[in-house]
Amino acid sequence: MTASTPIPTFDRLNATELHQYRDELLAVYTEVYAEQLDTPFFSVPRYWDRLVAYASRDGFSAVVGRLDNQLIGYALGYTLPPGSRWWSGLRDDVDPALLVEDGRRTFALNEIMVREAFRRRGYARQLHDALLAGRSEERATLLVLPNNAPARSAYLSWNWYGLGELQPFNDAPVYDAMLLDLE
Ligand SMILES: CC(C)(COP(=O)(O)OP(=O)(O)OC[C@H]1O[C@@H](n2cnc3c(N)ncnc32)[C@H](O)[C@@H]1OP(=O)(O)O)[C@@H](O)C(=O)NCCC(=O)NCCS
Repeated sequence: MTASTPIPTFDRLNATELHQYRDELLAVYTEVYAEQLDTPFFSVPRYWDRLVAYASRDGFSAVVGRLDNQLIGYALGYTLPPGSRWWSGLRDDVDPALLVEDGRRTFALNEIMVREAFRRRGYARQLHDALLAGRSEERATLLVLPNNAPARSAYLSWNWYGLGELQPFNDAPVYDAMLLDLE
């Protein structure tokens, strides 16, 4: 980011507002994930179904970034409920105490994306920080593809650390699960 990097506006959306932004959110997704859209798991209808499910959860929050009234990216997530199935696809042995969810412990960062033309300006970092600011959970979790070098590099530089491999759904890829201490 340089002194001349334009500063986006960041707005927080609740579940109702997420529905109002449907077309814009899907347009950004379609652009960012253009090469994967033919895979059923990454198809636009499946993606929207996932967003609707996330938005129905307690603790849901989304942050959208805009420049010149154009959506440049967004991030969203929700609080894992008690007994969440989030960790059921974990393939590595970890301390079981790490996998206990009580409905207050963990914020799941489900999506973060920035349109290609606006990358490497620090905008993902700003979306990330805006989404996590003021959260009451003690930690956050996310899933990242092992070959997603830009995202992995970003998360490591933002103090996230790996927990193990996790496949969230039968037809989903195997991801690396990461954690971030929020306290
Ligand atoms: C990952 C993503 C959100 C990063 O967005 P961004 O706005 O470019 O990120 P930032 O400018 O805030 O960069 C933060 C850090 O990420 C890392 N990074 C970002 N892009 C990178 C790249 N192409 N190669 C290596 N490191 C990269 C760097 O450490 C960077 O810090 P630096 O610019 O000071 O070196 C963006 O590449 C994206 O939308 N990718 C497609 C969607 C996606 O994969 N989302 C994550 C799913 S888990």
